[in-house]
Amino acid sequence: MKAIVIYFSRADENYFGGAMRYIDKGNTEVAAEYIAEITGAKLFKVERAVPYSRDYMTCIKEVQKEQRENARPAIKNTLGSIADYDVVFVGSPIYWGTMPQPLFTQLEQLDFAGKTVMPFTTHEGSGLGSVVSDLKDICAGAKVKSGLAISGSAVRGSKAQIEKWINNNL
Ligand SMILES: Cc1cc2nc3c(=O)[nH]c(=O)nc-3n(C[C@H](O)[C@H](O)[C@H](O)COP(=O)(O)O)c2cc1C
Repeated sequence: MKAIVIYFSRADENYFGGAMRYIDKGNTEVAAEYIAEITGAKLFKVERAVPYSRDYMTCIKEVQKEQRENARPAIKNTLGSIADYDVVFVGSPIYWGTMPQPLFTQLEQLDFAGKTVMPFTTHEGSGLGSVVSDLKDICAGAKVKSGLAISGSAVRGSKAQIEKWINNNL
């Protein structure tokens, strides 16, 4: 099995169980790295060409505008092909019920026919949101497996949970 993890994650200021603080590495990136450690998957991080603001409240406004417009913002590096992989893990924070728009920009450019897609999210209460059904729309021809939702504040203790999800679904 050759696998890749395609994910979006934002470090900087975020909200953790009632308090705001700056972090060096985003929650979804922590989960993505656990998956790479467990499976040997390659990591591909989707980054917005112009990053969201480091300040949480400003970022919220930027995301809101982008979602309202259903934008496809430019991304820093584009993954051209997933032809080399059988399994594609797709990792996303929940931004108002779904994925950040830069992930749509990337995923819509790939050919998912014949792939197995493993969706995972980090969130603060919304679970998987509409990510699994959104991925079923985007990833034509792929088998989209049941997703894993991890509480963002608890991601740093979630490696065993991730391993179990992989073992049960692959
Ligand atoms: C703009 C924005 C919108 C968010 N919307 C939601 C939401 O609708 N539901 C939810 O459970 N969490 C929401 N969150 C919280 C994030 O999903 C959560 O903190 C996640 O772990 C962040 O992942 P990251 O650190 O990898 O970017 C939102 C966070 C931001 C910055």
